[in-house]
Amino acid sequence: LKRYNLCLLGCGNVGRALLKLLVEKTTELRSAYDVEWRITGVSTRRMGHLTRLEGIAPDALLADPPGFASTPSPSAVTIKEWLEKAQADVLFESTSLNPENGEPATGYLRDALEQNVHVVTANKGPVAFAFDELQALALAKNKRFLFESTVMDGAPIFSLFREALPAVHLSCFSGILNSTTNFILGEIEAGNSFEEAVKKAQAIGIAETDPSMDIDGWDAAVKVSVLTTVLMGVPLRPSEVQREGIRTIGEDAVRRARAEAKPYKLVCRAERTPGGVTASVRPEQVPATNPLASITGTSSVVHFETDSLPGLTVTEHNPGPRTTAYGMLADFITIARRS
Ligand SMILES: NC(=O)c1ccc[n+]([C@@H]2O[C@H](COP(=O)([O-])OP(=O)(O)OC[C@H]3O[C@@H](n4cnc5c(N)ncnc54)[C@H](OP(=O)(O)O)[C@@H]3O)[C@@H](O)[C@H]2O)c1
Repeated sequence: LKRYNLCLLGCGNVGRALLKLLVEKTTELRSAYDVEWRITGVSTRRMGHLTRLEGIAPDALLADPPGFASTPSPSAVTIKEWLEKAQADVLFESTSLNPENGEPATGYLRDALEQNVHVVTANKGPVAFAFDELQALALAKNKRFLFESTVMDGAPIFSLFREALPAVHLSCFSGILNSTTNFILGEIEAGNSFEEAVKKAQAIGIAETDPSMDIDGWDAAVKVSVLTTVLMGVPLRPSEVQREGIRTIGEDAVRRARAEAKPYKLVCRAERTPGGVTASVRPEQVPATNPLASITGTSSVVHFETDSLPGLTVTEHNPGPRTTAYGMLADFITIARRS
């Protein structure tokens, strides 16, 4: 039996969903993968760095506000000290995305790997801005840097290429990778105004209070950057992705396009060129015969074209924080299987 000390950096929607999933899968992890786990550290902006070597009860963390019978010690000051005190084997990082430079999360992950701790992240920033560096550090330390949940939540994209598509060369991809804008466009097609659609997206918890990161295409551009960097081997910053959001399409144009069976979608594209890659995020009218046209609500899709498989499409239906948490759990099992 392998016993893992787990640390959670970030304990919001995703971190909490991960805790619930870990609890739910405890028996299966033990019986099928010989894995036992306990949470020895949790860190958020409000809680600070908590550690308890005998294990922090997930129920206490999931209570609102968190309720501890006795307070775990909030002593450590730096991430390295916190991880050392918690004797961490794996760090699950789910802090907020910084689309400008990926910090401070990138620094946290660097610290963890330097400290000989495996890293699983749901945060796109470090992958978009520091994939090569973090991957090289993980290799040097004989640890894993895994990030399945950064694109299309828990749907297997990176593990698909890593495990099931050896020696394949990706020439281009297209997809719908931002749930919020896809949901908003659908609500406008159904007769709502842009503002009403945004409010509905906020009410069901998929849009932030400031929804501009989704609406202006930043979230999608970071995902394109991640896919291009990891799957095509061409590092591309989010600012190098040509980007146009959905603000300027106009409600009438959205409804007319749907009536003509050529709905507007916020389409992500990247294509290999002799000099590198060209990539874009922009609203496009998609013919009804294109698989992208049938993606509604919060679902997402990506279509890959490779030298060996001419077309391969992955569709994810109705994702949520649990889907994202599943990608992190799958990454944890990958670590446990290989170490
Ligand atoms: N929601 C999804 O389904 C989904 C899907 C794919 C990827 N992701 C990615 O997963 C990450 C988390 O998403 P979420 O929905 O769980 O966000 P969230 O609910 O806002 O939670 C973020 C957590 O990170 C903590 N945090 C933020 N900045 C921090 C810092 N500098 N140091 C320490 N803790 C920090 C917050 O602490 P406080 O609460 O104390 O401020 C909170 O616990 C994001 O990067 C997001 O892009 C989310």
